[in-house]
Amino acid sequence: MLTNPLTKNIGAEDAAPDLEAYRNNDGYRGWLRALKMPPEDLIDLVQKAGLRGRGGAGFNTGLKWSFVPKDRQAHPIRYLVCNADEMEPGTFKDRLLMERDPHLLLEGMAIAAHAIGATSAYIFIRGEYHLATQRLETAIAELNDAGLLAPETTGADQTLRIYLHRSSGNYICGEETALLNALEGKRAIPRAKPPYPQVSGLWGRPTVVNNVETLCNLPHLLLHGADWYRKLGHGEDAGTKLFGASGKVNNPGLWELPMGTTVREIIEQHAGGLKAGLTLRGFLPGGGSTDFLGPEHLDLPMDYDAIGKAGSRLGTGTITVLDEATCPVGLVLNLTRFFARESCGWCTPCRDGLPWVVEILQRIESGAGEIDDLELLRQHTSRMGPGNTFCALAPGAAEPIQSALKLFEQDFIDHIRGGSCPFH
Ligand code: NAI
Repeated sequence: MLTNPLTKNIGAEDAAPDLEAYRNNDGYRGWLRALKMPPEDLIDLVQKAGLRGRGGAGFNTGLKWSFVPKDRQAHPIRYLVCNADEMEPGTFKDRLLMERDPHLLLEGMAIAAHAIGATSAYIFIRGEYHLATQRLETAIAELNDAGLLAPETTGADQTLRIYLHRSSGNYICGEETALLNALEGKRAIPRAKPPYPQVSGLWGRPTVVNNVETLCNLPHLLLHGADWYRKLGHGEDAGTKLFGASGKVNNPGLWELPMGTTVREIIEQHAGGLKAGLTLRGFLPGGGSTDFLGPEHLDLPMDYDAIGKAGSRLGTGTITVLDEATCPVGLVLNLTRFFARESCGWCTPCRDGLPWVVEILQRIESGAGEIDDLELLRQHTSRMGPGNTFCALAPGAAEPIQSALKLFEQDFIDHIRGGSCPFH
């Protein structure tokens, strides 16, 4: 039985299967099966399979689709949007899928479009993803030329149109409502939720925004069924996931593994362990906007709930490893500089709070900090928490700082007392 549905077509060579090769290898069969199902059954299947959003938040995909109004006459226009604006620090999983198997994403989109009744679908892609853009453009042209998205195949009233939109480059554009504003040609600032996009999204119409990896799970889920999909996971969560590791490991990269694979297996086995002479001090489980966990969490399964209960988030599942020879204050400063630069400026805690936090961190890192700065950092980051901002940017930025203050407090104190960075 297939155990690597996301990467089955990805070989050693840097190439992507064209439409013919993709179809010869079961391609678009899952979609043809989906077309035979009433949309409600399709939504139910995906919900029961337990597929959770792979963009970072882990919301149940079928449940999200189910919020789209059922009444097609009252809501004739619906949109599907693929969020391909991958910019989370340390995260590079969607790029692999788009570059190496673009038809897998397009098939997933066609399935999702059928489920929600969309006849227009957009891929909002990170501007720097040049190769992925080229390969998707080619794949979309192949599909259109073959007439596969036309009413004769889909049974819909209109041809499914898939558009590729390149982002002009800002982290905030990956936030789903800022993304919708950007697609509409407006300034990319987040909208208040609710209403969620499923009810009022692109141009006020019902819209589902799904991440690339989430959509890539659909073709094989349809082909092999919900039970098969659930059993792919080792524990609570269903399916496989592209897990990754970066930092001072021997073999940084990405691997498709069952949900629930332990952190230890990813770091020690797949990433080849830490480089000679280094030991692990901690790790960010899934991107720069998650909380640090320590070596005592190495045997945790990479599941949404397990990582959540340990005090962090699975996020994008791409682990950033911190070794004991790397300065945690410098790492956190580097991340916070990124988040401060990428703030869209819409809410005060993010626009004004993050640069202030950078200033304090910079002071501490350079050895010019004072002990009271630690309390100041705690206060500032607590004011950026959920509920104080429109979106998750500032609350996410606060997570590595707050957890570093807990786990590595002595390092902050050593910088302040020693008057310089002890790692230099
Ligand atoms: P969220 O939890 O607010 O929403 C997640 C999804 O579920 C959204 O599509 C939302 O519409 C839907 N949803 C949530 N609650 C709902 C409700 N009550 N009713 C209907 N729909 C609901 O999270 P958000 O802000 O969309 O994403 C934050 C995550 O994004 C973080 O976990 C972070 O790790 C990740 N992220 C990933 C990036 C990447 O490059 N992949 C970049 C930045 C952040």
